[in-house]
Amino acid sequence: MRGFVTDPNSRAGLRLADDLPEPEPAPNEFLLGVRAFAINHDELNLIRRRPKRWRPGQDAAGIVLHAAADGSGPPTGARVAAYLDGQGWAERVAVPVHRAAVLDDRVSFEQAATLPIAGLTALRALRAAGAVLGRHVLVIGATGGVGQFAVQLALASGAHVTAYVSRPENRAKALELGAHRVITSLDEQGLGPFYAVLDGVGGPLTAQAVRQMAPRGTLIWYGNLGGPAELRLADFYGQAWNAHVVGFISPDPDETKGEDLAMLAALVANGQLAPRVGLTQEWKQTPDALDALSKGKIFGKAVLTLPVKASTR
Ligand SMILES: NC(=O)c1ccc[n+]([C@@H]2O[C@H](COP(=O)([O-])OP(=O)(O)OC[C@H]3O[C@@H](n4cnc5c(N)ncnc54)[C@H](OP(=O)(O)O)[C@@H]3O)[C@@H](O)[C@H]2O)c1
Repeated sequence: MRGFVTDPNSRAGLRLADDLPEPEPAPNEFLLGVRAFAINHDELNLIRRRPKRWRPGQDAAGIVLHAAADGSGPPTGARVAAYLDGQGWAERVAVPVHRAAVLDDRVSFEQAATLPIAGLTALRALRAAGAVLGRHVLVIGATGGVGQFAVQLALASGAHVTAYVSRPENRAKALELGAHRVITSLDEQGLGPFYAVLDGVGGPLTAQAVRQMAPRGTLIWYGNLGGPAELRLADFYGQAWNAHVVGFISPDPDETKGEDLAMLAALVANGQLAPRVGLTQEWKQTPDALDALSKGKIFGKAVLTLPVKASTR
């Protein structure tokens, strides 16, 4: 079977191998024929940290080739999205049934592949922030993979959304997502107060955002592309009295990943959520897509597609 393995001597640290063992699904796992997968920031780090024959791939969508032996989960032939621990950048992969959702025909494999990591992170971060109906929400890193979902889901929840973007040229993208207001600096008086902040960047922006928060507001901190953040108690004393900062990790809880994926897929099917796929390429070009991701060149997600023949046995 073909699939990507890490290899320090290959471009982007990744090589397409053709000698991988066929997956052997456990009784509560089905065999997925992968038709599309997405790439994530953390996978760039993991490829560097696990350079020898490690198999990446957490976001996948495709067709169930063999249903789970215990009779649970989607039937053979179903179209599904799956949230994996790894090994998804391959023709076939075993998927625990509780980490998958069946797709409506209105959801493409490309759209579905964007949902697991980025979609669940935005969904769960927003939930952790509490009810946002009618409240002001700030999304930092708004045009990235997670940020595009955070903006759209906050809007769908009835929030007034301010999008922070790192470059003026990204303003139009944030407006296209529906943000009410787009800003390129957080270091100004009176931008908030924000009841909730979804922070995918960190660095100096985190303290700047805290200073713009409402009393008892919540900042969900899930990314650190901008480097370490330094917070002072005084950052809370202007107006962010008794605000919370949550060090957020989205894979928890595990048991409801499929349920959350199904919720996101239903929003896509109904036209309430429109995943932005800034780059779609044939899967052999995964190293190029990783390059583009590391350079911050992608609006939304990068998705790689497999030909029909590749994923079936
Ligand atoms: N905790 C978790 O469970 C979890 C889950 C998923 C992802 N993450 C992390 O969340 C972060 C974002 O992930 P992603 O998939 O959305 O990444 P992404 O697709 O690369 O998007 C990140 C966005 O952040 C902005 N940005 C990047 N570097 C910046 C900088 N130095 N200063 C200011 N803005 C910057 C850019 O958007 P603008 O131009 O619009 O500002 C960029 O599009 C990553 O660190 C990722 O590892 C964490």
